[in-house]
Amino acid sequence: MDSITKFNGIDYANTFAKRISVMHELVKNVMSGQLNKGDNVIDIGGGPGIGAKMIDELGIEATVINIEPSTTIYDVPKLSLVKYIPLKMTFKEALDAQMPCTADCLLMVSSEHEIALCNGSTPKENKKIFLEDLNNFIHKNLKRNGILVFGFPNFRKGASKTEIARQRRLTESLLGHSHPKEEYFTVEEFSDAFGAKPAVFIQKPMDITNENTEDTILIANAAVFKIENL
Ligand SMILES: C[S@@+](CC[C@H](N)C(=O)[O-])C[C@H]1O[C@@H](n2cnc3c(N)ncnc32)[C@H](O)[C@@H]1O
Repeated sequence: MDSITKFNGIDYANTFAKRISVMHELVKNVMSGQLNKGDNVIDIGGGPGIGAKMIDELGIEATVINIEPSTTIYDVPKLSLVKYIPLKMTFKEALDAQMPCTADCLLMVSSEHEIALCNGSTPKENKKIFLEDLNNFIHKNLKRNGILVFGFPNFRKGASKTEIARQRRLTESLLGHSHPKEEYFTVEEFSDAFGAKPAVFIQKPMDITNENTEDTILIANAAVFKIENL
């Protein structure tokens, strides 16, 4: 199962997205203080326009480009304010493509670890290549005073092997796949890659059962990096 085809053909907005709604609330929270009317946003790995939908729900009149290689891109969200430009391509393909406009904001939500996996090497090497590609993409497509918004999952610091194994079994049963700890990003890895601390960083436990009965070790993280600090 590869990172792209595993999302093909699923009703993402009504299944997966509902399970990770804590992540989306967290990302909306940080975006609400950062985005302005007229901004151009590039959402990388946005599935069925999840970034566009979140920005529309925030009531921000923006243009959102979605770079998404899976068939979920054919599910176009209902939007009232956002101008939506879906582009069916991988992040690698986007590196060589001409984007319709330069961005005020690059957005990635729960796609970082999936995109890194496409490099087909060890988790450490995959992340290194991904972060190099991301730096190239930033220099080509982000405005000088632009921002980066990341929403990313990982396991609670200090979680034991047993707790991680239990969480992974639950995640697999509800979402169809799971990731080992090494594949998930940490805020420190982003900080090291950009040589800067995030301007905003918030975290929240993410109970994918939506019942709040599970003592989850899965954490939703949202971070904003300001490009002038890079
Ligand atoms: C967990 S989903 C996240 C979707 C959405 N961003 C959200 O917040 O719900 C991961 C997404 O990354 C996409 N993806 C995987 N490999 C990719 C790649 N190489 N380039 C761009 N997107 C990729 C998948 O197709 C999928 O839509």
